[in-house]
Amino acid sequence: MTAAKNNPKPAAAPTSFQSPKGMHDVLPADQYAWDVVRDAVRRISEQYHFTRIDTTLLEPEQLFAQSLGASSDVVERQMFTLRTRGDDALVLRPEGTASIARAYIQHGLSQLPKPLRLYYIGSMFRYEQPQAGRFRQFTQAGFEVIGGDDDPMYDAQTILTTCRLMESLKLAKLIVKLNSIGCKTCRPVYRKKLVDFYKNRNSKSSTICKDCERRLTANPLRLLDCKNEACIEIKKNAPISLNSICAYCKAHFKGVLEYLDELNIPYVLDHYLVRGLDYYNRTVFEIFLDREDARGLAASTPDIALAGGGRYDYLMPLLGGRDTPAVGAAAGLERLVDVLKMLDLVRPSPLTPQLFLIHIGDLAKKKSLSIIELLRREGIDVGESLGKESLKSQLRAADKSRAHYALIFGQKEALEEGIIIRDLQTGAQETVPLTHVVHELRRRLK
Ligand code: HAM
Repeated sequence: MTAAKNNPKPAAAPTSFQSPKGMHDVLPADQYAWDVVRDAVRRISEQYHFTRIDTTLLEPEQLFAQSLGASSDVVERQMFTLRTRGDDALVLRPEGTASIARAYIQHGLSQLPKPLRLYYIGSMFRYEQPQAGRFRQFTQAGFEVIGGDDDPMYDAQTILTTCRLMESLKLAKLIVKLNSIGCKTCRPVYRKKLVDFYKNRNSKSSTICKDCERRLTANPLRLLDCKNEACIEIKKNAPISLNSICAYCKAHFKGVLEYLDELNIPYVLDHYLVRGLDYYNRTVFEIFLDREDARGLAASTPDIALAGGGRYDYLMPLLGGRDTPAVGAAAGLERLVDVLKMLDLVRPSPLTPQLFLIHIGDLAKKKSLSIIELLRREGIDVGESLGKESLKSQLRAADKSRAHYALIFGQKEALEEGIIIRDLQTGAQETVPLTHVVHELRRRLK
């Protein structure tokens, strides 16, 4: 015998595991709210003629560096990366648009009639600092309109579809914030103005944060996204893109606004909205809940975007595809579910079985299982608490279930192949042969 066997070490206390930071289980109590939101996404997508696409959770790392931009926050700091045993560099997708562009090129979807309208619901992963409404694993529902031309009507339609999704969830008062960040030709002009402004400003009085120092050379438009208080103050005097964009982009933006007016979708211009992903051009937008109208929201609830999107005409060529104008949006479903719950807009209706089976005695219990099975196969919804033996506790369970009828199955009934149907509201009851029970129940439940 070894020493270890003679003196076994005390067993280590079992580890209690937690879900990873920023990642959450969806417990049964919340499934109802999730179903409401997912059903709304499916319904609205069908109504607006979007067809579903599901892409892979893992993607080549390079896909996002090439599309979102190597200097975007998502690529620089927020990717969950892994190396396979075969040494492939993969990432858990941080968003859906680049994956859809990859799939569009890979599967030759440009052969399909244009524009192609696609929608998706799926998990995304970003290594963010978790806080209210910001998670490391979250779910997006997205709409993408790909191909055709760069008609501003498609931008308006995308905004419309996203707003309709929220409205169908009774989130009627929305704020659409909108901007145009120009095209390949005019954006460099704006970028230069921005850099000049920040360089001059910086040398005079207030200084920008360390991150913005870096952004100034790597990605100047992102200076406008900074949440640092000093940087927000400086931004107030920064030049705006609408004063620098070319005539074509101005006309395009005007077109988007006119379509939104026509559709009665209110919007506000946000001159400093640039969005964090590099693939955008011209229209960018974000959708918020109007807090004035959402009084159920705690004052401490942060003002977070329920959805965001924009035009991305240059994404396909960046990934090796042909020039393909496109526009899209994605909504964060955790944020929608949270808001619906906070505003008390989703309430699960308790599952009420049509009837409840009560057994008395061992023989009846044994036979009850196959009676329940027979009824369920016939599409009759039956509740039970076969694990409870006492009549009293089963009656209590039947009462709690709010079923209209009880089926009472005792020793006598089991021997005589009958069953009692009892109306729980009137107390009237009748014994029927087991062979007739489906027919009798159907008649009553009609
Ligand atoms: P995004 O603005 O990064 O855009 O994300 C869209 C929405 O996803 C946000 O408005 C928010 O509701 C939700 N979201 C983003 N990050 C988180 C997070 N860490 N935790 C919880 N919710 C989050 C995109 O991803 C683009 N792909 C949208 C798009 C589609 N543009 C064109 N087509």
